[in-house]
Amino acid sequence: MSSSQNTAKQAAAQAALEWIRDDSIVGVGTGSTVNFFIDALATRRDRIRGAVSSSEASTARLRAAGIEVMDLNATGELEVYVDGADESTRHGYLIKGGGGALTREKVVAAASRRFVCIVDETKLVDVLGRFPLPVEVVPMARSYVAREIARRGGQPVWREACITDNGNAILDVHGLSIVDPVSMECELNQVAGVVTVGLFAQRPADVILVGRPGGTEKIVLRG
Ligand code: A5P
Repeated sequence: MSSSQNTAKQAAAQAALEWIRDDSIVGVGTGSTVNFFIDALATRRDRIRGAVSSSEASTARLRAAGIEVMDLNATGELEVYVDGADESTRHGYLIKGGGGALTREKVVAAASRRFVCIVDETKLVDVLGRFPLPVEVVPMARSYVAREIARRGGQPVWREACITDNGNAILDVHGLSIVDPVSMECELNQVAGVVTVGLFAQRPADVILVGRPGGTEKIVLRG
């Protein structure tokens, strides 16, 4: 990754602090952009109550930063969730799961009032699908789900080296041009054995912070 892309990720991550209120519990996503956000959040650790994490990796980084990690079952609804994406449209529809954390990410996003997505400018697209769509599946259903996806025109590739935090497998689906992300998310969710589709369309981002080396563009879709 180029240093200018890192600078852009860091700019978006830093800008997300504007959405963090004192005394709140912050939903925290996963990935290299979120790692910059955790580093930024550490400078505010005495002003927040803690965080709900979307992965074992983010949990470890949050704890190392001195931020308490809380159980979503004990916190109730969260005010804000901050996470990156592999692709984002300007409407806040996302592909996520490149890091394999899509299921917990989708849960924490669903349990949060506001979803602030932090991306560098390379992630912005008009149509989702150039980045292979991650689909988390129950291991014994992997071949069946792959056949069902192929019937729908996708080319699924098993991410062989990956077992998710939930003990499942991931199929990365190539060759999709996702013009109707809400419908595709609904349809793939119906396939038996699918745990989570890496499309975040039924619950899209509310705010997109697009980092560039020179600053951050703020796209507010829902206040
Ligand atoms: C993790 O499973 C993903 O959803 C990440 O949010 C996504 O892959 C973005 O990661 P980077 O910030 O590392 O690009």
